Amino acid sequence: MSTPTTPYWVAGRPMTGNEMLEVSSPYDGAVAGRTTVATASDVEAAVAAADRVRHEFAATPAHVRAAALDHVSRRLSERSEEIAALITAESGKPLKWSRLEVARAVSTFRWGAEEARRWSGTLQRLDTDPSATGRMALVRRAPRGPVLGIAPFNFPLNLVAHKVAPAIAVGTPIVLKPAPATPLTALLLGEVLAETDLPAGSWSVLPVPNDVAAQLVQDPRLPVVSFTGSVPVGWSIRDSVPRKHVTLELGGNAAVVVGPDQDDEKSLSWAATRIATFAMYQAGQSCISVQRVLAHRDVAEGLTERLVDAVGRLATGDPTDPATDVGPLVDEAAARRVETWVDEAVAAGARLLTGGTRDGATYAPTVLTEVPADARVACEEVFGPVVVVDAVDSLDQAFARVNDSRFGLQAGVFTRDLQVAFHAARVLDVGGVVIGDVPSFRADQMPYGGVKDSGTGREGVHSAMEDLTEERVLVLTGIEL
Ligand code: SIN
Repeated sequence: MSTPTTPYWVAGRPMTGNEMLEVSSPYDGAVAGRTTVATASDVEAAVAAADRVRHEFAATPAHVRAAALDHVSRRLSERSEEIAALITAESGKPLKWSRLEVARAVSTFRWGAEEARRWSGTLQRLDTDPSATGRMALVRRAPRGPVLGIAPFNFPLNLVAHKVAPAIAVGTPIVLKPAPATPLTALLLGEVLAETDLPAGSWSVLPVPNDVAAQLVQDPRLPVVSFTGSVPVGWSIRDSVPRKHVTLELGGNAAVVVGPDQDDEKSLSWAATRIATFAMYQAGQSCISVQRVLAHRDVAEGLTERLVDAVGRLATGDPTDPATDVGPLVDEAAARRVETWVDEAVAAGARLLTGGTRDGATYAPTVLTEVPADARVACEEVFGPVVVVDAVDSLDQAFARVNDSRFGLQAGVFTRDLQVAFHAARVLDVGGVVIGDVPSFRADQMPYGGVKDSGTGREGVHSAMEDLTEERVLVLTGIEL
């Protein structure tokens, strides 16, 4: 039976172009599905419709937007196994992680519905000076305008959800460009969105090549750009449109600190297991996967032993097998790049504790120590299943090392000491600090984003809603307060 062609979505309607796009698994090349590249006239129709509907959509009652978001949440839940299988098929993400991603997207849309119902404004009294007696202000947030959402391959559903749900919640149209490697899940989300009563033009999903996305970035009808992806592309977008509102969720080389109070078996095993799991999950292709471990010298040896052991127990292989922990990277070129970076670190004096081999697009979970500070596996974003462990003499030294990076997304600190926790939150230059766990922890309602090269702006449903809107003041006169 031939593979059906998945339509793309223009202003809520399914469309098919002429240029075929076949999507296959990075693990074994199996065809995951096919779609077509959106034609130039469909791209124009999507943007024109977003521009046309912007005022109507902003005026849509909250119950309509919330009902649509609830519907999407429910349908994703009902279709969760099918969607998880699709994520795995097109991205190579192990099924257990795809299932978790679908569950997170269910929650992201549910939060969108809840926040849409709560989204109100504040009342500000103005009669604090005689000249404003009898006046008050209603301060509400209005959409900045239609959004161009550019999504990455590493969470083909939930990082799309983080762009779409807040846009619907505040009533601003979104034109979404999924990642070229993983468009099918976003197109399936389109199928679910099409079941709602949202106005035509309020959303489109367009598989287009990156050069077409670059043209969309310049389009004045899309005054907001929300980009998740690589550091150079993200900042070049922002530099190219200084008058637009640009949100960037970019990379990181997340660090975790293991404090000297983690010296009992339970604490060490917990820290080692969490670090092993979240350095290697999704083959390290998460902006907050653990890349650098800074362990206090009192616990470093015990931690490293247990970490190597835990990494060795991860099941690597076929991502469709529910038992698999670590699958392939997004393509063989990515795995070759990781291989090069590890090899050059070892050539420069790093010690390989486990891993260091490649089979096609799959790179073995790898632990390195004694890595020179300027090795790319230490100072750049690996985005692969590689972790670098180092001993430090004090927590101050550990925190200085966390900050000695051009990135600052999230950091983790294993400690039981509340003073240390607050100190870490104060001194670490990152968007979020996780105490008692790895930096990879993310709840979808919490503010998420970075400082320095890791980006600007925040996602997380409520934070993104604020980001997509700006304050508008309505001053009322002749009011008795
Ligand atoms: C990311 O890679 O930035 C997203 C991480 C997550 O949502 O867990």
